[in-house]
Amino acid sequence: MNEAVPPKRRAARTRVNTISNSRTNDQKTQSQYQPYKDAAWGFINHWYPALFSGELAEDQVEGIQICGIPIVLRRVDGRVLALKDQCVHRGVRLSAKPMCFNKKTISCWYHGFTFDLETGGLTTIVGNPDDKLIGTTGITTYPVEEISGMIFVFVREDDFPDEDVPPLASDLPVRFPQSSERFPHPLWPAAPGLMDENAVALGMHRTGDCNWRIACENGFDNAHILVHQDNTIVQAMNWVLPLGIRPASDDCITLIEDENGPKGLMQWLFTDRWEPILENKELDAKVEGLNGRFYRTSVVLPGVLMVENWPEEHIVQYEWYVPITDDTYEYWEVLVKVCPTEEERKKFEYRYERVFKPLCLHGFNDCDLYAREAMHEFYADGTGWDNEQLVATDVSPITWRKVASRYNRGIAKPGKGVDGATKTSSIRLRRISDGDAPGYRVKKIED
Ligand code: FES
Ligand SMILES: [Fe+2]
Repeated sequence: MNEAVPPKRRAARTRVNTISNSRTNDQKTQSQYQPYKDAAWGFINHWYPALFSGELAEDQVEGIQICGIPIVLRRVDGRVLALKDQCVHRGVRLSAKPMCFNKKTISCWYHGFTFDLETGGLTTIVGNPDDKLIGTTGITTYPVEEISGMIFVFVREDDFPDEDVPPLASDLPVRFPQSSERFPHPLWPAAPGLMDENAVALGMHRTGDCNWRIACENGFDNAHILVHQDNTIVQAMNWVLPLGIRPASDDCITLIEDENGPKGLMQWLFTDRWEPILENKELDAKVEGLNGRFYRTSVVLPGVLMVENWPEEHIVQYEWYVPITDDTYEYWEVLVKVCPTEEERKKFEYRYERVFKPLCLHGFNDCDLYAREAMHEFYADGTGWDNEQLVATDVSPITWRKVASRYNRGIAKPGKGVDGATKTSSIRLRRISDGDAPGYRVKKIED
């Protein structure tokens, strides 16, 4: 009997299934954005949108989760207060069954621990009013700003001092016309901003099932416009969206890193620093359409996209990708326009409901939602950072990772004792099987 001879394998002439050295990021490059790689649960000590003003009426209580931190919001005499939504007694969420005896406190519905809304201090316990715990403990409070119909919360670590809380503007995109000289925009009028007088913000937020970084990188990815080619709004308006946009010069991106301002990057789209690709001869693919659609994207910490001149003149689109857990994020899509009169406001609202919401925030951006989900698993176990093979256009996400690593105010720790901390908890699984996907808001306990 012959001894088994191991089969000989022929060497492939060209190997196409290996990773090209020229297009992966080696350890040295990756080390420049290690903090970003560590930020699966988000960057903490930053301002994030929590709710639209219209989602929190007088005396209403709502619970949400940002960067793995449960947060309860209550509006009292018009003002919004935010506290950690986790009772110090045994951890239930106060917002699950709101109980407020007065305007100054919120009580836990379970055993009555009662917290001061301003300080978070434990002021009494409904059925244990003399307990020695009273006055010695409490829950973290979060600074709140409400502007142009949006409620923002400064999501901070428990020991982050009040005096170090930066202004909201340091976590919002650069403003125009203040930045017009620095970032000229000859093809469109100065973009409005959330902080402008008479600014009206209309939009929506919904939960996406992927890591927030994957979502954020999609927002300003100049290679991804391919997924939008067939969108109704693109076709209806005969917009010319290139097949891709490729960097044409070393200064195609400018870092935004002013000392007291937002930190991020601006892309010089629709200038000679980026080249739109209108044809791929090999594939016989050509861009057709009539109307150039000029826009520009920038992104600042903690992950705020601004699309100037989009979806039409005098409107700007903001997006936030607010980390809920390491595998869910709250996707905020907001259009801002300055409307000095009631009539202009009504017109904007009408157009928002009839055109922008269905065709842009849904239609167009729905494609982004599924494209992000499609990338999630590749990065979820941490190997994607090593295995991605990038092209020249990917200078944008790489630059973002580095700038975000340099200037973030803290890396959120993995959520503890919260929704999503244990992926296979029986409650999470039951909710999913009930058709109730993991999300952003607390479900209220029904009586
Ligand atoms: S869990 Fe809140 S009072 Fe017991
Ligand atoms: Fe997109």
